[in-house]
Parts: sequence; C-alpha cells; structure tokens
Amino acid sequence: MTGRIAVLASGRGSNFQAIIDAVRDGRVRATCAGLFTDNPKAYAIKRAEAANIPVTVIDYASYPSRETYERMLLSAMQKCDPDLVVLAGYMRIVGKEIVNAFAGRMINIHPALLPSFPGLHGQRQALLHGVKVTGCTVHFVDESLDGGPIIVQRCVPVLESDDEEAVSARILKQEHRCLPEAIRLFCEGRLEIIGRRVIIH
Ligand code: GRF
Repeated sequence: MTGRIAVLASGRGSNFQAIIDAVRDGRVRATCAGLFTDNPKAYAIKRAEAANIPVTVIDYASYPSRETYERMLLSAMQKCDPDLVVLAGYMRIVGKEIVNAFAGRMINIHPALLPSFPGLHGQRQALLHGVKVTGCTVHFVDESLDGGPIIVQRCVPVLESDDEEAVSARILKQEHRCLPEAIRLFCEGRLEIIGRRVIIH
C-alpha cells in the first residue's frame, strides 16, 4: 500500500523532515499529504513549504476551548483523508474524537523508552532518574498518555557527562531513524496489533 500521511507537528519539525527525506529518497513509499500545526510560528511550516506539502494551521490560541480547536482540526484532517496520521513533535494531548477517528492508524514518537517517562520532557525525566540507558519509542496512539501499543524502540546510553541537551541530541538521532522505519512498516501493511503487542510481519 502506498499511503497518504498526515503529520501533526508543533515546533522545530526535525522528525517531520526525517519523514520528508525518507519519502523523497524512496525509503518510505507514501505521500506526505499534509502538515497540520497548532502553532503558526512552527519551523515545521517552512519545511513543508520547501517540500511543497500543503500546510494547515489551526492556531490553538485563537479558539475559545479545546473542544472547538479539536473539532476544527479533526474536520481539516478528514478533508485530507490520510491513511496514517503521524504525531511528530505535536505538543498537545489528542482528544478522544480524533483518537477514535484514526484508531489503529495514528502513531507518535516519544523521546524515552516507554512505559518509562511518558509526558513532557522524557529526556529530562530519564536524566533526573539516573537511568543508564534511555531512547525513543514509536507507538500507536490510544486514549492514554503515551501508552498505546509499541511499534519500534531504540536505545542510547546515558553518559555521566550528559546534560539534557546532550542526551536529547543522542536520542533525536535515533528518533530520525525510528520514525521513518515505523511509517515504512505501517505503509507496507506489516503491523498487526494484538492486545498490547504489535507484531511485525
Ligand atoms: C522530539 O524529541 C519528539 O520525540 C518529541 O518532541 C520533539 C520534537 O522534535 N515528541 P522535532 O520538532 O521533531 O524536531
């Protein structure tokens, strides 16, 4: 299957760029059908424009409630009609309606080895906890916080000399490999969710 991918990103967009590059060089046989962002200042917008990917800005700050914001986002995403939705540095919790609309076809990248250190600042949490290895996780999105079935994980060491920036940079390198890999597996129809487990065929 060659799918249509919709990407949600809130900021820098380096993971989004990794997807653009993987599609461009044929590692992932899919189309980047749209970038959706809650942040009009996101650098991800520039990356989309440079790659001729349609951009939809749904500025969170200009909506009276989370519900109205989410309704607008859902309707914009439905118009795009994606096969797969990728949360690539999307810094908001996705509401129930959107989760249900894309159940089994929405994935997220998280900068820690889940189920350790969910939520914000996974890298900082790992450092403060004193773990010796951390990493990144790509998982399906369900209604829990970073708790859906895990597709791919990669580890990195935590060195004694590390600060948050150093460990984040080491993790980010792996994120840029992991996310396109998970998207490729999804687009090739090779992922099967059985309970909490994802079987790769
Ligand atoms: C990444 O570390 C990602 O795991 C987390 O937010 C960061 C986004 O980075 N969810 P970027 O916008 O993809 O550069």
